[in-house]
Amino acid sequence: MPVAFTVRLVARIGEGFAHMDLTITAQGLLQVAGAGDAPVLLHPIWLRERLPDAAVLDPQTGQRLEEAAETPTDLRVTAAAHDGTIAFSDGFATRLPAGWLAGAIAVQPHQAQHVHWDGTLDAARFPCADLADLRARPAALGALLAGLDAYGFAIVRGVPIEPDGGLAFADLIGPIRMTNWGGMADVKAIPNAYDLTMTPRHLEPHSDNPYRDPVPGYILLHCLQNDADGGDSTLVDGFHAAAMLRSIDPAAFDTLTRTDVTFRYHDDSAFLEHQAPLIERNAAGDVVQIRYNNRTEMVGRLPVDQLDAYYAARAAFWKLIAPVSPLTLQFRLQPGELLVMDNYRLLHGRTGYTLATGSRHMRQCYLDRDMVGSKRRLLQPA
Ligand SMILES: [Fe+2]
Repeated sequence: MPVAFTVRLVARIGEGFAHMDLTITAQGLLQVAGAGDAPVLLHPIWLRERLPDAAVLDPQTGQRLEEAAETPTDLRVTAAAHDGTIAFSDGFATRLPAGWLAGAIAVQPHQAQHVHWDGTLDAARFPCADLADLRARPAALGALLAGLDAYGFAIVRGVPIEPDGGLAFADLIGPIRMTNWGGMADVKAIPNAYDLTMTPRHLEPHSDNPYRDPVPGYILLHCLQNDADGGDSTLVDGFHAAAMLRSIDPAAFDTLTRTDVTFRYHDDSAFLEHQAPLIERNAAGDVVQIRYNNRTEMVGRLPVDQLDAYYAARAAFWKLIAPVSPLTLQFRLQPGELLVMDNYRLLHGRTGYTLATGSRHMRQCYLDRDMVGSKRRLLQPA
């Protein structure tokens, strides 16, 4: 049983280290205290496996060379010197570059600053930009992608009204996701539709293609024509709906996060299937993905009591996202506008339209989630 006392080996290291107090505890942990900040305890292996030392990380790529899983699990910090030299119980020692330690222990910015919204969201707050501006100014694209991250959708104006005009925006970010339907695909009523999307029928709120793995990250919906009666776009903030469900019916929320359901698309040329919950959380409990697609969802033949719970929970969630709910945002896309939607967060749909009164022709494609996130991070202000 180690004695709980602290041995202060270094009183203070100076310039470039922001005057940090480094202390080694009896357990061999490194305690770091900056001016006025609460002390931070660093696990010796946590510290070791990210050291900017050529024996640990490749200087060129920043990727780790040392097999971290082979680091002795009883590793201890044994020394810390005024010049930033740190030594470990296995004999390894390195000198930390000035300022490195402060950066390593800095509080990481929250992964995403989501702004939850409902059907009252004012159009003046929609993240939007002109394509010409996005092309001319990387900072404008960065701002749009930050807005997309915050609200889950964004509108690009001034997109060429031609079949592949939407690619002019996609190309600013990265390659589009190819599927069994190709890249850019029509969304308009056709005879013998292979999907309800291709009819003038209204579309209930849904996320796209939950039967794929991975699910397409972002949807780009480019409006070429929209002059029929009806055909407005509808959006629901699925993260907001999930947070509401968690608040008003925690048991239903829990059921939807723990019940894997099957999403399936099957035709002559494709059999796509994936099992996942309607609401997915990460290890910290944060909601990270919503899957909702009535057209393609089937729950397995679970025990009756589990099905009872699932059906009740699904009904409770539906009440929150249904077209009549206060969460539904409705607006009309104009030709030359492109709607970008976070397919992990938003549920989208449309009102029905009447073919006899005009046409509704959209084209859509997908971007992978990592490509959008990559561009946003590259362009975010330092
Ligand atoms: Fe869709």
